[in-house]
Amino acid sequence: MSETNAYFVAVIGAGPSGLFGARELANQGARVVVFNRDIKPGGLAEYGVYPNKHKMKDGFRKQFRAALENDNLSYYGNLRVGAEGDLTLDDLRALGFQALLVTVGAQGTKWVGLPGEKFVGSYHAKDLVYHYNKLPPFSQERFRLGKRCAIIGAGNVMLDIAYFMIHEVKAEEIIAVVRRGPGEVNFTKEEMTRTIANLDLDAFESEMKRILPALQAVNQDPEIGRHKVLDALPKAGPKFGDTRFRFEFLTSPVQMIGENGWLAKLEVEDNILVAKDNELKARGTGHKRTLDVEAVIFAIGDKIDDAFGLPTASTGFVTNPSPRFPIDGISYEAFNPDADEPIRDVFVGGWARKASEGLVGYARKDGTNASKAVWQYLQTLQPTVPNLEAVAAKMKSLSRPIITKENIKKLEEVEAAEAQKRGLEEFKFETNEEMLQAMGLNPSASFF
Ligand SMILES: Cc1cc2nc3c(=O)[nH]c(=O)nc-3n(C[C@H](O)[C@H](O)[C@H](O)COP(=O)(O)OP(=O)(O)OC[C@H]3O[C@@H](n4cnc5c(N)ncnc54)[C@H](O)[C@@H]3O)c2cc1C
Ligand SMILES: NC(=O)c1ccc[n+]([C@@H]2O[C@H](COP(=O)([O-])OP(=O)(O)OC[C@H]3O[C@@H](n4cnc5c(N)ncnc54)[C@H](OP(=O)(O)O)[C@@H]3O)[C@@H](O)[C@H]2O)c1
Repeated sequence: MSETNAYFVAVIGAGPSGLFGARELANQGARVVVFNRDIKPGGLAEYGVYPNKHKMKDGFRKQFRAALENDNLSYYGNLRVGAEGDLTLDDLRALGFQALLVTVGAQGTKWVGLPGEKFVGSYHAKDLVYHYNKLPPFSQERFRLGKRCAIIGAGNVMLDIAYFMIHEVKAEEIIAVVRRGPGEVNFTKEEMTRTIANLDLDAFESEMKRILPALQAVNQDPEIGRHKVLDALPKAGPKFGDTRFRFEFLTSPVQMIGENGWLAKLEVEDNILVAKDNELKARGTGHKRTLDVEAVIFAIGDKIDDAFGLPTASTGFVTNPSPRFPIDGISYEAFNPDADEPIRDVFVGGWARKASEGLVGYARKDGTNASKAVWQYLQTLQPTVPNLEAVAAKMKSLSRPIITKENIKKLEEVEAAEAQKRGLEEFKFETNEEMLQAMGLNPSASFF
């Protein structure tokens, strides 16, 4: 296939950071192969961004499509790379790849470790987000969300889940359980406009009254928090249904209480704020109470997949503290802390480098910068003759159907035609079997 000399790079993960990183390398003249767990490219831009943000999602898809069209770039979807995956990092080295750019996002689940996390009704936001965005196998999972639900956290993911609970589940009550105060919420005004019409403003004011002494104790003007939460009001979207949305500030989950394996209550503890290391932190007061909820959804960010096979820290894969190729002062180089040395040919970018950090634009920039570090590393090596035939043969030898760029094009055509037929803005197959059938591949093949 390819006879000319080029640098040969594997990019693992086709979310925004991987696709933009791969595009940058391909534009530089490297021969790039992208390996992706999901059939479709896009990562959380496809399977995280809220389904009805059609314009935004279509914009991202267009950019991803353009990146994949680069002739220097191949795509293989529906396979897992990692210590327990279809291909290990050593398998990729054996195929001749000179550098490995790991952009697998943050696929681990960040449980707090509370009693009752296994009850039916206790979920992590990522699983629910993947479910409503139709990512197999999460698309096929059943969730018991009930009428009253607590969402732990105060980021934009909490608001996405609240929007889903209002619009799709049509819950009676949603309680955002926030460990610090309204002054420390992490969500944006823009996102709050989508849900604020369902916010119970009387409940908000009584909550502000309840926590006033705690705010005064750290000399925080309550108006700061009031603004952070309520500034979205003038641009509020329409109220939907009767769902009552309210906040419990300065409140941390302690345990889920259940009956016969089903979640029935959430025990919480009141907090105060304490100033520590130039930050306000939550500290429990010991005062506990219970909330009557049937579901608790943890929207507290994600963590790296510990099983991938690279050393991990709490924020992402461990990076070289003294990078050889820093970009804007940031290290993109994987590091082995036990051996106290860099893993020379492995680089990390996007949410794999820093879990749950920023928007698609951030992932794009981080993936691009990671690829610049890769490019600098490649300059220390001689180009090779990329053996694309060996890679293709390896793909054929795997026990599952491997998806190529051409397959993705076909799938997009079939889904677009289906959307038109059904009069929908968008149509997505929910199972791997249906996607394979649409692409003309064997739908009875096995999946992870
Ligand atoms: C619920 C939610 C909503 C969001 N909404 C918005 C929004 O509205 N607007 C916005 O700008 N940003 C939004 N974001 C943020 C945005 O999605 C992320 O910033 C971005 O997707 C991170 O990109 P990434 O490439 O680093 O990781 P990801 O997008 O997670 O991509 C990782 C890729 O790696 C692949 N992968 C994983 N493990 C393996 C493996 N072992 N082997 C091979 N491949 C693997 C996955 O299949 C995936 O394709 C949202 C995030 C979440 C969680
Ligand atoms: N529409 C959008 O644009 C959109 C939608 C979704 C996500 N995103 C982006 O994706 C990224 C991730 O979002 P995210 O909401 O998952 O993360 P996030 O913004 O970091 O918010 C996480 C929330 O969880 C809380 N939390 C963390 N650990 C906790 C614990 N052990 N107990 C109780 N609470 C805990 C945090 O509180 P503390 O502050 O006290 O730590 C914070 O309120 C963000 O950059 C976000 O903007 C964007």
